[in-house]
Order: sequence, then structure tokens, then C-alpha cells
Amino acid sequence: MKIAMIGSGYVGLVSGACLADFGHEVTCVDKDMAKIEALRKGIMPIFEPGLAELVLKNMREGRLSFTNDLKPCVGDADAVFIAVGTPSRRGDGHADLTYVYEASREIAACLTRFTVIVTKSTVPVGTGDEVEKIISATNPQAEFAVVSNPEFLREGAAIKDFKHPDRIVIGLEDERAREIMTEIYRPLYLNQAPIQFTGRRTSELIKYAANAFLATKITFINEIADLCEKVGANVKDVARGIGLDNRIGGKFLNAGPGYGGSCFPKDTTALVKTANDYGAPLRIIETVVAINDARKLRMAQKIIKACGGSVKDKVIAILGLAFKPNTDDMRDAPSITIIESLKKAGAHVRAYDPESIEQAKLVLNDIIYAGNAYSCAQNADALVIVTEWEEFRALDIGRIVAALKSPIIVDLRNIYRPEDMAKKGVQYTSLGR
Ligand code: UDX
Repeated sequence: MKIAMIGSGYVGLVSGACLADFGHEVTCVDKDMAKIEALRKGIMPIFEPGLAELVLKNMREGRLSFTNDLKPCVGDADAVFIAVGTPSRRGDGHADLTYVYEASREIAACLTRFTVIVTKSTVPVGTGDEVEKIISATNPQAEFAVVSNPEFLREGAAIKDFKHPDRIVIGLEDERAREIMTEIYRPLYLNQAPIQFTGRRTSELIKYAANAFLATKITFINEIADLCEKVGANVKDVARGIGLDNRIGGKFLNAGPGYGGSCFPKDTTALVKTANDYGAPLRIIETVVAINDARKLRMAQKIIKACGGSVKDKVIAILGLAFKPNTDDMRDAPSITIIESLKKAGAHVRAYDPESIEQAKLVLNDIIYAGNAYSCAQNADALVIVTEWEEFRALDIGRIVAALKSPIIVDLRNIYRPEDMAKKGVQYTSLGR
């Protein structure tokens, strides 16, 4: 199949590279010429394990190319995927569909034969209808079908998630489109990945409902962690105890500083807006959003408390800035709220992250960056683990304690055991234990 992928961000680039690896002929399009030129040289715009190798391999083998000119590849394509950004609209939290609609108009003008237009970007219910209208209005002769095919990949595990998905969801109303989509995903079908065909609006909603459910699960365990602290219970054991029930499942039950990233915060907010617009408010998700926002601020209070009630003129060492490990993505990272609050309370912040320091510099001012965990801890008044990178899981705690001015460690990801920390003389604070 010939595929044009519009937008070379996280989803577009990973999907494009993986579809090429399945044997399809993929052209990734992006307006950012600097990005295209870098990609042609094998330089990735994001940090994602395995991506550079996959892109290079498929470019070398002639199945993957990059361009800023969508005309030739769209005209020639069996399917055109729209994988542009749908950020939160300023002011009201609705998904901003400017880029999706702009891409639709540009695609419409280039269509030459029956083509499937696939929205891979996360788009609110009804966007497929809108895209259809735009294409018909721009090019009344165009023969096409609009399909919804949401992407469920996680950053840091994106290639594995794309190639071994729990399911593929495809929303469509057109038989010819069904054939083309089946062909595109045949390699996964052969791997026995379940493919769910459904209506387009249903498919659009599945993506939001999945993200909102996962955000709810995380928020649930975060609140249970708070209760554990009050009643003297252990949230890790509670999570295991409930997660072993197959109806609940053990994943996404790790208490933490609140969910962040490019999807959960914006998608929960957008879903709440859609629900209100249709007069079917989602009270649970509204509450999840409010609790999660408040939690990030409360984490700063927890750190201040662990430091004896004040961080004024103290140096706080922060390990981990990205919203989760194995990514350099700083979007809605809890570290931002935590660091800003600590600074407001008079702290000096020194931080280390294995991958995201360059991204962090774009959103955080007045902090000092360290080259590793130990230099970050040097002479600091407390050490805070915000992101659970692998390299923070087996720190030489003796060395950290020796480096710190006082042996205070706040672990917002529960990666150490309170008993072990006590033995090493650490004044240890974690979540819900
Ligand atoms: C998410 C969805 O998982 C994915 O299916 C969708 O396509 C995009 O959004 P992503 O944002 O990459 O993926 O990261 P994810 O691993 O889901 O984590 C999101 C946030 O939740 C992170 O801040 C993470 O630290 C937090 N989290 C996750 C927890 O606090 N506890 C958990 O148990 C799991």
C-alpha cells in the first residue's frame, strides 16, 4: 500500500516508520523543513527508544521517505493518515482542530482517485464528519472515505505498542475503505492483534474514553495512597491486592505525583468539554481533572513538609523532569508545577534528567542542571525523585547520603522500600506507605 502520513510528530513519525517496516511505501510529510532535512539525515526530533534505527533501516530499504510537499504523495496514495497535533485550545480546553482542518483542505486539493483519509490524531467525536464536509466542499469531484483509526501508543514504548497493540480500532462507514484498512493492518492481523471495526463516531469516542479511564485509574490509586498515609496502610500492597482481581487488573495502579504528558491532561479536558456540549456531563472525569491538577501542587507541599516546613534558601535536588521515563517530553510534566512551587517558596532547585534537560530549559527558568544523580545531590538539603528513570532505581544510597547536606529523600514514585531507607539512615518520604 502507498501511504502518506501528514505530520511527523510523535504519532506520525512512529506510525509512519512502523507501517514502512510492515512493508508499505510511506511518505511522511511535515511543514517544518528543518525537521524534514534532519529526518533525512536520520536525526530524530524526539527521543524515543529504537526509533532512529527503525527510520534509518526503512529509509535505506526504500520504503520510507520525508518531504514537505504533500501534493505528489497524496495524489499517489491509497491512504492518507492525518497525524497532526490537536493541542488544547487556549481559553476553553477544547481540542484545537485548526491543523486537522488545514490538512484536510490541502489533502482534498490533491486527490486524484479513491483515497482513504484516516484520522490518527486524537479528535473529538464528529471530527470525521467535519473532515468529510471540508474535503467535499474543497474538491467536489474527490472520491474518498474518511476513517477514524486512533493511536494508543505510549511514549517511551511507542514502537512496541504500535507493533504489538492490545487492539486496533477502526471506525468507518465505507466498504472500500474497510478493504484498504484491512490490507494496511494485515501484518498485525497475522500477529493475532484484535481489530475492532466500528462506526466512525464510536471509534473517535473510544480513544477519549480509554485515556479518561486510565487517568481515572491513576487518580483513584493516588487518592487511595493519601488515605493509606492517614490509616497506616501500604498503597503498593493495596494496588496488588485489587489488581490481582482480573476485573480490575494491576496496570496503571502506581501512585505518583499526578499524571502528565501530551495526552491525558489535554484529552480529559477535551472530553469534559464535549460531554458538556452534548448535555451529558462526565462528573467523574471533571473530578479526576481537578484532583490531578491539585495533586501536583500538593506534592510541593509534601516536599516542604519533609524539609521541616520550609525550603527557603535551601537547595532541593530533583531527579527526573520528563513526565515519565524513556522520553524527553516535558508537556504537562508534574516536575514543572513542583519546581515552580518550590521556587516560589524560596528554594533553589538543581535538577538532573537523563534525556529531557534541553526540553526542560525551554519551560523552566532559574534552575541549575546537573550531569548525573550524584552531582545533583551534592550539598543539597533534600533529594526528590520525580520521574522513575531506570538509572534512579538502583542508586548508591550511601553515596547519595554522603553527598546530601541532610539525608532527606522524597520518593514520589515509590521506587525504594521504606525499611531499606530507614536502615541507611535516610529520612524517607514516599506515597501512601
Ligand atoms: C498515554 C496512553 O497510555 C496511550 O495509550 C495514549 O496513546 C497516549 O497517552 P503516554 O502519555 O505516553 O500514553 O504515557 P502513559 O504511560 O500512559 O503515562 C501517562 C502519565 O500517567 C504519566 O505521567 C505517568 O507517570 C502517569 N502514570 C501512569 C502514573 O502516575 N501511574 C501509573 O500507574 C501509570
